Formats: sequence, structure tokens, C-alpha cells
Amino acid sequence: MDFSFSRYGRESVKPSPVNEMMASFASDFRDGVDINLGVGYVNEKTIPTALLSEVMGEIAANPEIFRQAFNYGGPQGAPGLIQALRDYHVSEGIGGMTEEVMARLELVIGPSGATSILDALADIMEPGIVITADPLYYIYCDHLERKGFDVIAVPEEAGGLNPAAVRNILDQLGPLSERLSFFYVVTVNNPSGTVLCNEYRFGLAELAAEWSARLGRCCPIFFDQAYEWLIHDPDAEVPRSALVEVPEAPVYEIGTLSKVLAPALRIGFMVGQAGALMQALVQKTSDVGFSAPLLNQEMAAVMLRRHMRDQVMRVKEGYREKSLVVGQAIHEILGPWLEEVRGGTAGFYYYLTFQETATHSASLFFNFLSRTTGDPLVDGESGALHPRVIYIPGEFCVHPLGFTKEKGQRQLRLSYGYEETENIVAALGWMKEALRYAEGQR
Ligand SMILES: Cc1ncc(COP(=O)(O)O)c(C=O)c1O
Repeated sequence: MDFSFSRYGRESVKPSPVNEMMASFASDFRDGVDINLGVGYVNEKTIPTALLSEVMGEIAANPEIFRQAFNYGGPQGAPGLIQALRDYHVSEGIGGMTEEVMARLELVIGPSGATSILDALADIMEPGIVITADPLYYIYCDHLERKGFDVIAVPEEAGGLNPAAVRNILDQLGPLSERLSFFYVVTVNNPSGTVLCNEYRFGLAELAAEWSARLGRCCPIFFDQAYEWLIHDPDAEVPRSALVEVPEAPVYEIGTLSKVLAPALRIGFMVGQAGALMQALVQKTSDVGFSAPLLNQEMAAVMLRRHMRDQVMRVKEGYREKSLVVGQAIHEILGPWLEEVRGGTAGFYYYLTFQETATHSASLFFNFLSRTTGDPLVDGESGALHPRVIYIPGEFCVHPLGFTKEKGQRQLRLSYGYEETENIVAALGWMKEALRYAEGQR
């Protein structure tokens, strides 16, 4: 018998194509043999397990200081963590944040990482048009579409999403633009690693203010800053916050401690003007579990106060080193086939565009690397397959009806976060073999 599902329920019954692909690899992934450049996992070595364990012990042993750390918390977040995050932004001058600006803003903690804040926004905002960059953060954009939003992905440039290009699209939409719900911009883009330049950042904030005035209701811009603390190229522009520079615009910044500390803590937060949106977010947190686990929030607060500066420096150094070696290897090994390489200056992704070779999940290149060509010489024998290499095909990273649909067929995201450098270089060698194989079969 059929269920009486909501639209979201109906759309969620079948896993998204990328989830399906990753699940099929996960089921028989061979540690030490297969190489996973697909997952967005952080490198295990960046997680300060010993420090976390020490801090957890201290919290458990001192209930008079860390009160009720194993009880329910409040839906806005633990006051100690909220204050620690405020202080960290100001003392580190993140985005140029000052005490005066921070004092005017509200900061709330999500129930389970930045993801839960993004999820809440999809519930709170009326479904309509969402403007984002192409390539796009496929996990959230897929989620938005299942909730009934129409995602319009505007091709990014070297400096990220250009507000002039967005303005163009909105103008072209004519009366349809009245369905604009919000802007969603990942400041170090996932999948491409492209860093949004300050000029575009402020321009986008101004555009959100302009369209809010035009439509007579707030069309906020959400900057997803998941990787913003991980800009590791010393020559990169230092980001300035639109909350500081364009204070009149409806700007909200979403941050997370996942990438710089530990995803398992599930600490994500949003900073912006106090008001209806923040209130609805807090209510949503209450609806789905009252708060993030208090123990985790207390741990995060202690880490921020005592260790975060060194931790962020250490993590950045680690990814910088890997990014340089992997970047050089990409050019040396795959050079003749490449049209473009993005990323490598922040976070842990490179985004490759081949001149001709298709990368999608039915391509010869993909078949070679997943050992599904059907030729035992290429695949190895069943039960003893040659090493497999997992990556995210560009087909999942561009909007299926969008402007870069064709280009996406020959793109891929490669993560240098999770695997060790020598494995990544080995995987690039396999990719070269796969490129040759695809050429030979054409
Ligand atoms: C762009 C982007 N936003 C949000 C997240 C999720 O972060 P969290 O672990 O805080 O839920 C990720 C994780 O990969 C991400 O890439």
C-alpha cells in the first residue's frame, strides 16, 4: 500500500544518484587497496583526539564548572560555546570582525553541524528560487530540490560567483524572479575549491539587499563558510565579512567546526541579525532535539578558548603541504588531458576539467577506475580486482538542467583530505591509465 507522503518524502524514497554510487563503493571498499578521493571526510591526523579526550575527561570530572553536560541543553546553544565563538571571531579578527559588530549580531548553534542549519533553512523559507554557484554543493542543492525549491546555478568564475552574472539571470527571469527565496553561496566552493573574492562577496550582499527592497520582503543571502578557516595559500586574499562591510544587507554566515576540529562533534553555527529568521531557527532546533549535545558544546568551547588558534594553523599547514604535492602531481601526470584545474588554495578539493574525456558514471574512464569494464585484463579477476579509485563525477556537481551540464560530463572532484599523499599520487597514476584506456577504446 502507498504511504501518504509529503513531496519531500516521495522524493527521498530513492537515494540520490551520488549517494547510490558512494553506497555501492562503501559496501565493498578494501582498505589499503582501493583509494577514496570521493568522500568529503577530513584527514584523521587533523583531529586532535588526545586533546579532545583530555577535555572530555575534565568536563566529566568537574560538574560544578561544566554544569549538566550530560543533560538536555537550550535550543539557542550553550552560552559558554556561543561566547567562545563570539570571542574567537573577535580575537582572531575573522573576516575583520570587531567587538562592536559582533555585539549587534546574534549567534546560534545548530542541533547537528552546519548541515542541520541548512536543513532548517529549507524548512523555514518558503520554497521558491534559490540562487547558487555552478558547480554546486550537490548535497544541499539536491536536498533543496526535494523540498520543492528551484535551484538556479550560475556558473562561477575564478573569483567565485560574480554578482553581475547573477543580476543578469535575475533580470532574464522577468516576473518569475518574484519567486526568489534566497541566495546560497559557499565561500570556498564545494566541489571546486574556488574562493569567493571580497569584491563579489560584497556585491552579492548588496544584490540581496537590492532584491529584498524590490520584492518588499527579505531575500537573505547565506554564506556557507564551511571551509573558510582553511584558506591555506599564503598569497590568497584574506576574506572580509559582508556582515562587517555591508551591514545593511540581509547577510547570514554559516560556520562549522567540522573541518578544523572534528566532524563528530557536530558543531555548526549561524551568525546574523537578531530577528524572525534566528527565532525560527532556534524553534527548529528545539523541534529536532532541543540542542546539540551539551557535552560536545562544552568541549568545543574549551577547545576554542585554549587550542583553536594552534589547531587551525596545524590543520592549514597539513592541507597546504598536501595540496602542493598533489597539485604538482596532477599537472605532471594528467597534464596532457587537462583543460582546467581549480582549487588547491583552500579546503581540500581540486576540481578537474578534461579536454575531452568523459568522467560520468557510465564513461569508459569511470568503468576503468571502478573496475567494471568487463575485461579481466583491466579489472583484475573477480575477488581480486585491481585497485579501484573513487571520485565524484562532475555530472553530480553541476545542475542537471543548468548552464554547465555538458562541461560537467568531463569534470571531477578529487579530495586530498582523507587519503594520504602517496595514495593520492598513486590514484592519479591510475587515472592516467584510465585516460589512455578511454582514448584507446574510442
Ligand atoms: C559546503 C559545505 N557545507 C556544509 C557542510 C557540512 O558541515 P557539518 O559537518 O558542519 O554539517 C559541508 C561538509 O562537507 C560542506 O562541504
